Amino acid sequence: MKKINETNKWNPTIYNKHTAFVSQMAFSVVDLLDPKKGERVLDVGCGEGTLAIEIEKRGAKVIGVDTSKEMIEQSKAKGIEAYVCSATDLPYDKEFDAVFSNAVLHWVKDAKSVVQNIAKVLKNGGHFVCEFGGEGNVYYVVSAMQEVFEKHPEFGEFNNPWYFPSVEEYRRVLELEGFRVEYIENIPRPTPMDDIANWLDIFANGVTKHLTKEQFEVFKKECREILKESIYSQEEGWVLDYRRLRVRAVKI
Ligand code: BEZ
Repeated sequence: MKKINETNKWNPTIYNKHTAFVSQMAFSVVDLLDPKKGERVLDVGCGEGTLAIEIEKRGAKVIGVDTSKEMIEQSKAKGIEAYVCSATDLPYDKEFDAVFSNAVLHWVKDAKSVVQNIAKVLKNGGHFVCEFGGEGNVYYVVSAMQEVFEKHPEFGEFNNPWYFPSVEEYRRVLELEGFRVEYIENIPRPTPMDDIANWLDIFANGVTKHLTKEQFEVFKKECREILKESIYSQEEGWVLDYRRLRVRAVKI
């Protein structure tokens, strides 16, 4: 991952240091994709290529796309054919047997446009398998951010940059764009993190990019204080309240 928001630059070294879990926890999504030898798979938001490699190991040919130039360079260095481009502007037409996406689609609020693009690039009968944040994802974290913004009117309005749909809502988006949903589930997946401050450094940019450096430090400190009550314990450390929406759908 592989943020779709073009205004954000990822530093793969910092990203990989704190978030290796993003790919490691997603091998079961590759199982759901069940790639076959000779298939062509588009990996939307391929990031630094860990899952693309896993898919190629199973015999398929992967094309990776991501909005981050830095991530694409990392994917290419691992031997993946990869291009900088956005999920809402995929330059392909009915040429993939499957589209795969992990931990990316919650960055794009225009889900209809993403799903339309995915339908366009798939062959008839092709599969779309994805996992991303579902309804209730990082609920405590988003609530804490909101609380800190409310306490500091000088921070301006709180804008939630993420799309965490319910099962019903996403099923509707898929069906309206010509998919039959074979499987869809919202799964709790508590996710350990070394420190919530690092998570905020990496992921809160869409919420805090207009803050000064000093304001951002206040923001992090106060979020951390609030969240110590809900997602931190001495025994387990920081465990974020992730929920994954996991989907397999076929283009009809
Ligand atoms: C997620 O993977 O669920 C996620 C990552 C960053 C920000 C929000 C959600």
